[in-house]
Amino acid sequence: MLSSIILPILFIIIIALSIKCYRHSRRIHEIRRVIRSFSQGDFSSRMVLAPSDRLGDVALNINELAQEIQRRLQEMTNEKEKLEAILSNMAEGVLVISAQERLLHLSPRFLDMFEVRSQDWSKKYYWEIIANQTINESIREAITHKKVLRRNITLVHPQEIFFTVLISPVMDASGVLMSVVAVFHDVTEFKKYERLRTEFVANVSHELKTPLTSIKGFVETLQAGAIDDKTHALRFLDIIAKQTRRLEDLVQDLLILSSLESKDVKMNFIQSGVASVISSVVLMKKKQMEEQGQTLEVDIAPDLPFILMDTQRMEQVFLNLLDNAVKFTPAGGKIKIKAGIEKRHIRVDIIDNGPGISSENLSRIFERFFRADKSRNQETGGTGLGLSIVKHIVEAHQGTVNVESTLGRGASFSVYLPLDMI
Ligand SMILES: Nc1ncnc2c1ncn2[C@@H]1O[C@H](COP(=O)(O)OP(=O)(O)OP(=O)(O)O)[C@@H](O)[C@H]1O
Ligand SMILES: [Mg+2]
Repeated sequence: MLSSIILPILFIIIIALSIKCYRHSRRIHEIRRVIRSFSQGDFSSRMVLAPSDRLGDVALNINELAQEIQRRLQEMTNEKEKLEAILSNMAEGVLVISAQERLLHLSPRFLDMFEVRSQDWSKKYYWEIIANQTINESIREAITHKKVLRRNITLVHPQEIFFTVLISPVMDASGVLMSVVAVFHDVTEFKKYERLRTEFVANVSHELKTPLTSIKGFVETLQAGAIDDKTHALRFLDIIAKQTRRLEDLVQDLLILSSLESKDVKMNFIQSGVASVISSVVLMKKKQMEEQGQTLEVDIAPDLPFILMDTQRMEQVFLNLLDNAVKFTPAGGKIKIKAGIEKRHIRVDIIDNGPGISSENLSRIFERFFRADKSRNQETGGTGLGLSIVKHIVEAHQGTVNVESTLGRGASFSVYLPLDMI
């Protein structure tokens, strides 16, 4: 009788306990599964929350922990992406190295500068990809002594590339070295301009010195008594006047060049025709050509359209070109000016049958102060700035200027001015 009551109760209790145990072990199994996925880096798994669950608190804590880790990971990813975007867009090359000398990060600009193929570098030591001793020694010094270093580096690539590199150690709060950051700044352009500027100053000084020495010499000769010898005195004064004109021309050309190179000076573009510009230039040189017995042929296509130009400056272009033709072509020579349309450009040719220019000088002729034949130019007295002024002005009109010549067979300068300036 008793057993008929107790046994079913016992049975029910056992069943209830088994169910509870089963649920409990299922929860523990679930906790294990979630934690395993965390350990595999997946923080998106969550525990199911059941209100009657005795492990409910644990499940809630696990979910909150996962959420927090996920949030922080996201923050770190965002920061990393931001940093990578900044590094990728920097004009400087950036290199990050661990305290153990391994490469941690190379910016795309650095890869370019040192011609590193992108996958080549990961896990390598910095000295495996940088072949420059100064850079490597400086990085080692920064790591060893934990100090900031700045160095100037020249690489021969085959062309020369100049860098300044700033190497900075990065330490944690307790002063332990974490990494070293090297920032490479390409200063090649700057160096080029610095060199040009030095050369320019040297050239100007030289150009000023020659006439000044001559003026000084003749003035001293006159002072020493030559002033009383009328015929000699007049000849010396002529030389002084000529050298003074030369100085004046030089200063004038330098002023034109510097105004063209200065960013503030605006071109005064108006719609006008090249024909009238050429006519006024021809008028300026007519007398000299007649005196030298040179013949001039002008062949301008009719109805050339007006284009946007700074007429005064364009006059300077054709004056410089015609001046050269007249100056370098011997007496009795022939000069021709042609103008027409070619490929949406107005093309103007200034052709002479003078001594021409050798092929090695042709490529340098538009450089400042360049004169092909120094002895011949001594007589003609030019500054060597005329063609650089021409090039500057034509380029400011979005045009081009070319030269074709064979030594002994004349020269032909062609100016192309666009019909439609952008
Ligand atoms: N038509 C030409 N025939 C032969 N050589 C020329 C001709 N035009 C230019 N050259 C050469 O190119 C050099 C540079 O010309 P550029 O006009 O720049 O200087 P320049 O005439 O010597 O001096 P500047 O024009 O300042 O008076 C000349 O010195 C000359 O050697
Ligand atoms: Mg000239």
